[in-house]
Formats: sequence, C-alpha cells, structure tokens
Amino acid sequence: MSEFSSHLIAWQEMYGRHNLPWQNTTDPYLIYVSEIMLQQSQVATVMSYYGKFIERFPDIKTLASATQEEVLRYWSGLGYYSRARNLHQSAVIIVNTHQGIFPQDFSAMQLLPGIGRSTAAAVASLAFNQNQTILDGNVKRVLARHFLIEGWTGLSKVEKQLWLIAETLLPKKNIAIYTQGLMDLGATLCTRAKPKCGVCPLQVSCGAYQQKRVHELPTPKPHKIIPKKQTAMLILLHNNKVMLEKRPPTGIWGGLWCFPEIPVNENATVYCAQHLGMKVESLTNMLPLDHVFTHFQLRIYPRLLQTFTQISDCESERVWITFNDALISAIPTPVRKLLNLCQQQKY
Ligand code: ADE
Repeated sequence: MSEFSSHLIAWQEMYGRHNLPWQNTTDPYLIYVSEIMLQQSQVATVMSYYGKFIERFPDIKTLASATQEEVLRYWSGLGYYSRARNLHQSAVIIVNTHQGIFPQDFSAMQLLPGIGRSTAAAVASLAFNQNQTILDGNVKRVLARHFLIEGWTGLSKVEKQLWLIAETLLPKKNIAIYTQGLMDLGATLCTRAKPKCGVCPLQVSCGAYQQKRVHELPTPKPHKIIPKKQTAMLILLHNNKVMLEKRPPTGIWGGLWCFPEIPVNENATVYCAQHLGMKVESLTNMLPLDHVFTHFQLRIYPRLLQTFTQISDCESERVWITFNDALISAIPTPVRKLLNLCQQQKY
C-alpha cells in the first residue's frame, strides 16, 4: 500500500470524523441521501436537513411512494433542487427495476439520475466496501497539492489526470476508512484557505508543501463574469392570503412554489388587470433582493399588491395560501425571505 494511503487511514482512525449522522451505517440508502445532500452543500447545512429527511423517508420505498412535491418540501432552502428531483426519480427507478434494493453494481449506480462517478464511488466504498475512488472538490484539492498537478481541476484534461492518480492510491483494504479519510482531510486540514499543514499526516510527501506552493495550488478557476439578471415578483395579497404558482418541472426552482414573475419594466397593476383579471387596491415596491446562483445573479424587485378580487385557484398550479402554510411549502429561499419580510411588514 502507498504511504499516502496508509498514513491517511491511520490519521482518519485517530483524528477523522466518526459521528456524522450518516456514518456508522452501511445502509446504502442512508449513505446515498447524505452524498446527494453533500454534493453542493456544507456539512453544517446538511446536518439540519438530513435527520428530518430520513425520519420522513427512512427507506427507498417510502421515498419512491412520496410525491415530488413533498420531497421538495423537505429540500426547501437547501438549493440545487434538481438533486431532490433526481433523488426521488432514482428511488422510483430502484423500486421499478431493482426490486427496491439499491444496486451494488458500480455501473448500474451511475445509470441513476444525479449519481456521477464520485458519488457512486462514495456509496460503493462506504456501503459495499468496493475499491472505488471518490474525486470531489475537496479530494481534487488534496491531490493537486500533494502531486503538484497544475491547471484548473475543472478542466477535463486535469480531471483525467486526477482520476488516474486517485485510482493508483486505492488501498487493498480499509477502503471505507480511506474514503472517509480523503473527505475529512480535505474538509478539515487541507482546506482552500489557511490549510493546517503543520498537523497533516501527508506533509512529508506533499509536493506543494515541499515547494512552498500550497497557496498556489490547485490553480484557481479562470475568472468568469457571471451575468446579472433581474425580475419582478408579484406578491399578490387578498384576505391575508398570498398567491403562489407552481413552476414548470424543470429549470430553476423546477416544481417549487413561487410568486408570479414579470419583466421589471412592466406595470404590475396593468399586468394584474390584463393577465390575471385582478383589480389592484394598492401597490408597494419593496426593496430589491439579490440572490446568487452558480451561473448568474438575480436581482428581484418585489411588488406587493393588495388586490380587490381573488381569481379562482381551481387551477392546481396556482393557489391562494396563508403565510403560515406558504412557509411550510416547497418554496425557494428568496420566496421564504419575502414572505417573512411581508409578515413582519418590513417593506
Ligand atoms: N462530503 C461528501 N461526503 C461526505 C461524507 N460522507 N462525510 C463528510 N463530508 C462529506
């Protein structure tokens, strides 16, 4: 076994994390849910969602028989909602084509929506003791530093190099401890800023440490200016209820309940009359709210409208709902923020 792996395993046993809610189990479903949540969210954030999610959906069959709406409700605020839609869809596929049993086959796992090679490897190694390597953002950083790999790790050429290195490092035994060790080292010592090289078990063999290049590696992502978009959200009020619309199933906030949106230069009162058949009693322009996505920044101009009439909510994609009920629905973070501001009359 390479020194890299033996040192990492010894370090994990002594100093790694052992009591995260998704550890101390080999149930692939419990590990799978944690890996999906952890794909784009921090451990601290996931902690406040994971327990409730597992309590409501304790196994694949329970998740598969739930509605997407309810799954999104448990994901509300965590962001990247395609993860929740894919997780739910995967559960349905597992029930329909794998008799409800999480597949052990590494290739079969990767056919499920939302499971790439690294997530499959995490489940395969942690749940099934299979010799597969993970390569998430943290691990890329550890390897780029240790083996002095140049270039942004998002480039496919660099990524291929890292996969090859990661494969050669795999230990013959203790794969689950090794996998957890890679994650723990990247998250707790080999951090992007202020890495704790002084206590790192891999210090003696780390190329970046020897060459004093830890802060240069991995090569940062080339700067890209993210576009700024803007939208106006209509917060329609009538009899202390607010109107929400369900978004189309795919795209940003797919399947979530949101306020209707119109272009910022459009007159909200006229829009209500012409498109919704609603007469407006008063209009308050609230302070704009910024929300950052991975690929763009959104400036939201909230328009609070007290209306005289309440159009029928017979269409299931549009509801009039109390603030309290709205706040426990499948809503994205900006909608939650705006509902809270309105409730506290902060506008
Ligand atoms: N990040 C991704 N997977 C993880 C895990 N199992 N434990 C801690 N952090 C993680």
